[in-house]
Amino acid sequence: MSSVPRPALAIIGGSGFYDFFGDDAVRLEIDTPYGAPSAPITVGQVEGRQVAFLPRHGRKHEFSPHTVPYQANLWALRSIGVRRILAPCAVGSLRADWGPGTVAVPDQLVDRTSGRPQTFFDNGGIHVSFADPYCDELRGAAIRSAVPELPMKSSGTMVVVQGPRFSTRAESRWFAAQGWELVNMTGFPEAVLARELEMCYAAIALVTDLDAGLEAGEGVSAAAVFAAFEQNLVPFAGLVRRAVAAVEGTDTCARCRVHTGVNLPFELP
Ligand code: ADE
Repeated sequence: MSSVPRPALAIIGGSGFYDFFGDDAVRLEIDTPYGAPSAPITVGQVEGRQVAFLPRHGRKHEFSPHTVPYQANLWALRSIGVRRILAPCAVGSLRADWGPGTVAVPDQLVDRTSGRPQTFFDNGGIHVSFADPYCDELRGAAIRSAVPELPMKSSGTMVVVQGPRFSTRAESRWFAAQGWELVNMTGFPEAVLARELEMCYAAIALVTDLDAGLEAGEGVSAAAVFAAFEQNLVPFAGLVRRAVAAVEGTDTCARCRVHTGVNLPFELP
């Protein structure tokens, strides 16, 4: 790739997605006002289009969910031209009938994190709409990309917990009693920071476990979560690849473009 890449589409996900990229991919070391992102950004061709990839937890999984540099990650992607983000992630299920291997494309989010920087606007005056936290255009692309191996749920509420511990049984039963379906540790503030920078964003959630309230044994273990993710990685990566191909357009959609008429305190990167 000779000229400076300007990928419109990005994937933020686990390190398994490095396999999407060939030898011609480039690595961009980006600095931001919020420090360095989790890792250099890889840019290459996926399904015939230029795609950026950022491993959320770092190249060697060195960031815990609560220490991921979310602001730097989103800023870095926006600064190289990204307008649309697919965000594959592992989730626990709060429903017995959504077992491991299910893929869900959530339409709602509940933030149960604490102390994570969650805005680029610390000085007042800007409040982005977040009633619908995910981009419907990207959600549609993900839903249309279902693969036979992984049952697809086309909506769901994802509660994002602070971690890095898993939930207690009581917390988990409480989440389920609210009617929420999924639990995860990284979906927030990633989604709102994308919205603040006018990037379309959709989570694609792979169920790796039944959360503690449904689990009869010792509860959820990290080993079981990683094992279930690995076990389903090939079809899940296939689904994400199909979603890359299914995304239409290269600019922020009308609904995720939120700053019209607002005087931003900085130029969008
Ligand atoms: N990620 C994967 N499984 C999870 C669970 N049960 N709780 C929180 N985050 C998760």
